[in-house]
Amino acid sequence: MDKNFLNDFPILRSRMNGHPIAYLDNSATTQKPESVVRSICGYYGGCNANPHRGVYELSVKATKIYEEARRKVADFLNATPQEIIFTKNATESLNLVAYSYGLTNLRGGDEILITIAEHHSNLVPWQRVAKATGAKLNYIYLAADGNLSADDIANKLTQRTKILAVTQISNVLGLVNDIKALAARAHEVGAVIVVDGAQSVPHIPVDVRDLDADFLAFSGHKMLSPMGIGVLYGKRELLEAMPPFLSGGDMIEYVEEQATTYAELPQKFEAGTQNVGGAAGLSAAIDYLRGVGFDTIERIEGDLTTFAVAELKRLPYVELYGCDAPNKIGIVSFNVRDVHPHDVATILDAEGVAIRAGHHCAQPLIKYLGQNATCRASFYFYNTRRDVERLIEAIQKVRGIMHLA
Ligand code: ALA
Repeated sequence: MDKNFLNDFPILRSRMNGHPIAYLDNSATTQKPESVVRSICGYYGGCNANPHRGVYELSVKATKIYEEARRKVADFLNATPQEIIFTKNATESLNLVAYSYGLTNLRGGDEILITIAEHHSNLVPWQRVAKATGAKLNYIYLAADGNLSADDIANKLTQRTKILAVTQISNVLGLVNDIKALAARAHEVGAVIVVDGAQSVPHIPVDVRDLDADFLAFSGHKMLSPMGIGVLYGKRELLEAMPPFLSGGDMIEYVEEQATTYAELPQKFEAGTQNVGGAAGLSAAIDYLRGVGFDTIERIEGDLTTFAVAELKRLPYVELYGCDAPNKIGIVSFNVRDVHPHDVATILDAEGVAIRAGHHCAQPLIKYLGQNATCRASFYFYNTRRDVERLIEAIQKVRGIMHLA
């Protein structure tokens, strides 16, 4: 019997439009347990000072909280603290790699390989880097079941490829890519692999050494933490060879009028006052997730996904995307025939069911699927089968309300 997680998440006991809330937009952001909220309040209420700068006790405390959070993240990913850069979110982490590694290492004739299923944050920066360096941006498209095309991987990952940038789990289709195999293939041709872990790190165990990922990015807010704290993992030798991304305070060793030497890792990549309250929240979130355990998280989300797909398949007017592959977790994209996804989401909202509708920051994928937009339900371990039933009950009302039934 699983714990009743609702006791830890007061917001999930609240109401939306007069109904108990069924929060099914976890790929956009997750709710925060009380322990995370307490850790943020505890930091601002008792320990707030600028880290790394003061010699007084409060600043030393803030530094300790910040660096302990870094150690916890390192341990969580099986990395070292020097390899953990705190950023604002996965987007900033991926931009850091694109501009600092990409602009420095790419030349005309080189190739960047990404997938058609990337979030804009692992796509637009590479377009910009390709334009700036003369490199070519290539795409891996999808096979019929929604997984990455094996032929495209075989034909497009070549000696010319210098960067393979790929999401571990698609934020639209929920399909899990085999990062370990892709990393091995990338390394065979001498490319680095950049992994967007925004949808994976909150849901499955991620060991960067086992995957042999060169870079991996994720956001805290999609894993119970506050918004505004994110992480970039990078292999130490790669980070050491890269120039800083942002410059200013705290990332320097010596500054002279015309030249600067930079701080060691990880400070070299953390210019300006950092988000210590966010790091405290992320640290508490990792403790909470460890308490739940990834076995439990995967089991609950797997059950909810299978249940939702089976129930949606019973509705003849619902079209599903990427739902026939076994390597799927936590995310279900669909459309209700003849109804715009925004209308579906608005009708569901009136029933207390929160989903996302639109292009999900993945316009090339939505276009590739032949759609303008989709509805998306995304689960976390605190969701229940009752939430899925409420989703289905609300969808069953949609066509009637739109006078199509
Ligand atoms: N990246 C977030 C999503 O997929 C915002 O909804």
